[in-house]
Amino acid sequence: MTRELSVVIPTFNERENVEPLIERLITVLDGLSWEVVFVNDDSPDGTADAVAAIATRDDRVRCIRRIGRRGLSAACIEAMLSTTTPYVAVMDADLQHDETLLPRMLEAVKPGAVDIAIGSRYTEGGGVGDWSSERAAISRLATRLGRMVIKADLGDPMSGFFMVEQHAFLEAVRHMSGTGFKILLDLFASSPRPLCFVELPYTFRQRHAGESKLDTMVAWEYVMLLGEKMFGGWIPVRFLLFAGVGALGLVVHLAVLGGLLKGPGLSFPISQTAAVIIAMTFNYFVNNVFTYRDKRLKGFGFLRGLFSFYAACSLGALINLAVAIYLFDAGSPWWLAGAAGAVVGAVWNYAITATFTWNSGRTKG
Ligand code: GDD
Ligand code: MN
Repeated sequence: MTRELSVVIPTFNERENVEPLIERLITVLDGLSWEVVFVNDDSPDGTADAVAAIATRDDRVRCIRRIGRRGLSAACIEAMLSTTTPYVAVMDADLQHDETLLPRMLEAVKPGAVDIAIGSRYTEGGGVGDWSSERAAISRLATRLGRMVIKADLGDPMSGFFMVEQHAFLEAVRHMSGTGFKILLDLFASSPRPLCFVELPYTFRQRHAGESKLDTMVAWEYVMLLGEKMFGGWIPVRFLLFAGVGALGLVVHLAVLGGLLKGPGLSFPISQTAAVIIAMTFNYFVNNVFTYRDKRLKGFGFLRGLFSFYAACSLGALINLAVAIYLFDAGSPWWLAGAAGAVVGAVWNYAITATFTWNSGRTKG
């Protein structure tokens, strides 16, 4: 019998959950032809080794190790792309998702009328178990925001538990952003055609072992994903963030300049120089935390990044001046010349620092 189902499990520090999860899959998928693909982002607890130990005796178990990268959605996409089965499920490792839904999901997608079956907490019969009222409220708010970027009327667009038909996934994958936690939302928002779906209710369980990786930064990544899906078609969201941080930097610049002139009464050149350096350093910090959260530089890379940022922005300032002076001399009004210089400088700074400061693939997550 050719294999028909792959179950993708993203993991980061989930060693204690690997074996119980595989045991449950073996029970519930009995009689089907399936595989499970764990995708681990080099977590220090040895999750990948725990998977590998089982994989040596059970060839339904596979392990993908990603090094130097972090991110739930991106990890899932990579693991999904490694499968060749007609149906692919995605499910968390911590036993919060009800694995007994898997055979029913398969029954739902197999006849071909629907592209995707979704485990839903917010459909009649589903639930979130005993969540704090705060977490439940945040989840509801995020759900409402999520519905704004997808055309489908999903009860639980934030679900991380679903089974999709391979072709439907492949049609969408090139448009997916892979940012953050919300892979289902990304899939729906990226599919070139509306996906036919069915939602199956289940109750979200308590995490088995280990801790949740959902933190405030994950919420920030969610905002970025929504932005990408709303505006990303024409302007990269990262550029918008970068430009926003730049505007904030200007405020910092003026505050420092004014402070040094009026406070200690330093000369204009010295105050201006200090303001430039402080504003650039401020921009670097903020961009490193927010704009490039997923490629955040640390340790030595952080220092190297700081100096490449200084270098890129200094050149950007010269280009800004050159463009502005050229336009002004050619008769443009001062505000147009000034704004054009600033925009060209910002685009330059963005493009150069994206490559040389936060170069993807060379950084540690
Ligand atoms: N490879 C990889 N890389 N896996 C990760 C990463 C990562 O950076 N971050 C988290 N994971 C894995 C975890 O090990 C776990 O198996 C799964 O992704 C979900 O992470 P949790 O930390 O358990 O998240 P949660 O329970 O708070 O969130 C779940 O519920 C949300 C709905 O409230 C997830 O299913 C979300 O997708 C879902 O939106
Ligand atoms: Mn969890």
